[in-house]
Amino acid sequence: MAIQLGDVAPDFTQESTEGTIRFHDWIGDKWAILFSHPKDFTPVCTTELGEVAKLKGEFDKRNVKVIGLSVDPVSDHTKWAKDIEETQGHRLNYPLLGDGDRKVSGLYGMIHPNANDTLTVRSVFVIGPDKKVKLTITYPASTGRNFEEILRVIDSLQLTANYKVATPVNWRDGQDCIVVPSVSDEDAKKLFPKGFKTVKPYLRVTPQPNR
Ligand code: BEZ
Repeated sequence: MAIQLGDVAPDFTQESTEGTIRFHDWIGDKWAILFSHPKDFTPVCTTELGEVAKLKGEFDKRNVKVIGLSVDPVSDHTKWAKDIEETQGHRLNYPLLGDGDRKVSGLYGMIHPNANDTLTVRSVFVIGPDKKVKLTITYPASTGRNFEEILRVIDSLQLTANYKVATPVNWRDGQDCIVVPSVSDEDAKKLFPKGFKTVKPYLRVTPQPNR
C-alpha cells in the first residue's frame, strides 16, 4: 500500500554521495525532505538539483535536512554533480542516494509502473522529527517541481505542528491563519491573545501566532 500521511517513514540504509546513510539516524531530531529523480544526466533533474542546492540555506533555516535519490549508482552521481555545478552555478551540498538496487524507491513507492517501470517519478516526502510522514507530493518525470512551494508547505506544517491553526489558500509565512474548528471561542480567546475575527462561526481568522 502507498505510504500515507501519518505513517512512520520507512527506515533504510543506503549509499549516498556523502557515504552510507542510516535514514532515521541521519534525520535525528530534525525535519527531512526526501525527493526522487528519474535518472542521472537528464535535463529537468539537473535544474532541480541545482535549485535545491541554491535553496539549501532556506531548508537549514527551517531545521530541515535535504536528501535526493536517483536509481543510478553513486559513481554516476559524482560525475553528474560536476555538470550540475557547471550548468546551474550551485554545487551539490546535500546527499544524493544511489538507489541502483531500488531498495528505497521500492519502500517509498517511487516507481509507478504504468508511468515507467524502471525509473522513479518525482516524489517528495516531508518527514517530521517524530519520523512520521507529513506531506507527499508526486509529479511526473516531465514536470520540474516548484521548491518554493515546498518551502511554503514546510512553513505551514511547522506552524500547524505547534499552534491550533490551519493555513488558508495560498497562505505565505507572515499572513493570517485560521483557528481550527475544534477550538471553542472561549479557548480561542486564551490561545490567541492577538484576537481573532469571526467571519462565519466555522471561519475564524487570527494573525500568525508566532509572529
Ligand atoms: C529529465 O529530468 O529531464 C527527465 C527525466 C526523465 C524523463 C523526462 C525528463
